[in-house]
Amino acid sequence: MSKVTIDIPPDFILGAAASAWQTEGWHGKKAGQDSYLDAWYQQDRHVWHNGYGPAVATDFINRYREDVALMKACGLTHYRTSINWSRFLLDYETAQVDEEYASYYDSLLDEMAANGIEPMLCLEHYELPAILLEKYGGWGAKKVVDLFVRYAEQVFARYAHRVKRWFVFNEPIVVQTRVYLDALRWPGQQSTATWMQWNHHKNLATARVVALFRAGGWAGTIGTILNPEVTWPRSSAPHDRKAAEMYDLFYNRVFLDPAIKGEYPPALLQLLAQHQIAWQYSEEDLALIAAHRVDEVGLNLYYPHRVKAPSRAWHADTPFHPAYYYEPFELPGRRMNPSRGWEIEPRIVADIARRMRDEYGNFPWFIAENGMGIENEARFRDADGEIQDDYRIAFIAEHLYQALLARQAGSNCQGYMLWAFTDNVSPMNAFKNRYGLIEIDLEHQRQRRMKKSAHWFRQLRVSRQLTL
Ligand code: BG6
Repeated sequence: MSKVTIDIPPDFILGAAASAWQTEGWHGKKAGQDSYLDAWYQQDRHVWHNGYGPAVATDFINRYREDVALMKACGLTHYRTSINWSRFLLDYETAQVDEEYASYYDSLLDEMAANGIEPMLCLEHYELPAILLEKYGGWGAKKVVDLFVRYAEQVFARYAHRVKRWFVFNEPIVVQTRVYLDALRWPGQQSTATWMQWNHHKNLATARVVALFRAGGWAGTIGTILNPEVTWPRSSAPHDRKAAEMYDLFYNRVFLDPAIKGEYPPALLQLLAQHQIAWQYSEEDLALIAAHRVDEVGLNLYYPHRVKAPSRAWHADTPFHPAYYYEPFELPGRRMNPSRGWEIEPRIVADIARRMRDEYGNFPWFIAENGMGIENEARFRDADGEIQDDYRIAFIAEHLYQALLARQAGSNCQGYMLWAFTDNVSPMNAFKNRYGLIEIDLEHQRQRRMKKSAHWFRQLRVSRQLTL
């Protein structure tokens, strides 16, 4: 293919993302401040990578000044991270703020402002306090919605005058899908009703936090970050298309529709009723969801999800699972990232852009995460010690190109954020797969080094053009 160049609009976000738990480390964490992820990591050593894990993570909490300088060196316009709910408060019931942790965010925001990096903050990136899971069953309890709103009040009171872009959740569907739908992760227990209850309470929490933010009269915007898995059927045959529609309903529209349209898809409600999924919701909850919709959505886009019609009949005596309606389909010859086992297909961006335009009224969105995790990346180090991650440059370029084309065609796409700014701790497998523009060299005191992609990313900012 001959080279093409496309302009990057002046207001287009060129950023990178991270989360609190995946970078900060446990330095300064007090007894009782464990998050759900901390609790899981403490009891399951196999998720640590060669002994490295969340205890120190990237040590961002101590090294953020160095890292903000690197954000600038990479040409980032925006940096997205979360505030760790489990650490921001000393008491989740009274919402008593941990001054030590809160003042670290004051300094981080000062440092970012001084370096011209716009912060984007998310209130929950899997950081549910562990004690709330133990005591109330986590998001299964409506009480936890109230406690989350109290936490959000404290966060907004402290920072909303200086942070212009807020997000309620990052990927709110993930934890309960792994824990209650698929029973793959601690404390693992299959219950589709619990899964839907968590979904609903997170949708309700989104609406209530949106209402809270607006009532505060803050100048910024409030959105949420979702991970719609662009779902493609094996064929255009009706039974395969039906499988894709069902997947989309249970895993994508269950959050997209309430956030943007203010309602659950009627077909989803009908199916849940048909399968006697005992989740609780009230008319008042639905009215709140209808009344308080987000201003924008960040979308985490990694790979397409391909499905086909199920080949087996479901046994009525086993608990209902959405997989009743679909089976995964592996396209022969698909391009893969072998480290993560994810297909590489940049047209997912065009697909979601079209959807945002046609099905969601040209709703404002941006790519909140997109990236490539690579195992044992040190093998790509050159003689000067720099990781030559040409595969990452190609990956970013191809996805960013699709986003820019969509924007040219009228999609309300606000920007592109890479996952991740630095290598960091994955909830799945700690430091095994490296995603960063910046290498974290674990064997050498977590020394930071720009990878080849970091220099390339900076050029995007300087030239405001992408060539591929
Ligand atoms: C996203 C999450 O789903 O994917 C991140 O928001 C996560 O927290 C990223 O780290 C990459 O996935 P993984 O499982 O390889 O870390």
